[in-house]
Amino acid sequence: MLRIVFVCLGNICRSPLAEAVMNKKVGDAGIADKIAVDSAGTGSWHIGELPDGRTLDCISRNGLELDHRAQQFDQSYFDKYDYIVAMDKSNLRDIMSLATSDHSQQVLLMRDFDPVDKGSDVPDPYYGGSEGFQHVHDILDRSMDNLLDHIRSRHADLG
Ligand code: 4NP
Repeated sequence: MLRIVFVCLGNICRSPLAEAVMNKKVGDAGIADKIAVDSAGTGSWHIGELPDGRTLDCISRNGLELDHRAQQFDQSYFDKYDYIVAMDKSNLRDIMSLATSDHSQQVLLMRDFDPVDKGSDVPDPYYGGSEGFQHVHDILDRSMDNLLDHIRSRHADLG
C-alpha cells in the first residue's frame, strides 16, 4: 500500500479537502486498494476536530466524501508515509524543519503540479467565505491529476 498525506496548517480546511479530492481520483482510477490517503496539520489547535463546516459543505457540494479528524504532523510521518504533500511553502518549511535526512523526493509542494499557476501556494480560505473554499477545491482538482500521474510514474505496480 502506498501512503500519501496532505499537510496544511490547521488540518480543517485545505488538507482535508485535498484528501477528499485525491480519494475520489484514486477511486475513479480503480486503485483505491493500492493508495491510502490521509491529511494532517503542522499546528495543534484543532487536533481531534472534524473539518471546518465550510470544508464539509464544499466536500458535499462537489460530490466528494470524507471521514477525518484533525491530527498534527510530526517526525514519525516521514516513516509512515511515502509522500508528504504541503499546501503552501510555509507548511513545506515547517515539514522540512523536522526532517533529519534528505526527504526531497518524498516531500512535495501541491501547486508544483498546478497546470495553471505552478509553484504558488494553495491559499488559506479560513478567514474568508465559502467562495474561497470552492476556489481551493478547483485548484486542488486541476492539480491532483498531475500529482497522481507523477506518483504513478514512479510506481509501476500502480498501473
Ligand atoms: P487550514 O486552515 O490550514 O487550511 O486548515 C486553517 C485553519 C485553522 C487555522 C489556520 C488555518 N487556525 O489558525 O486555527
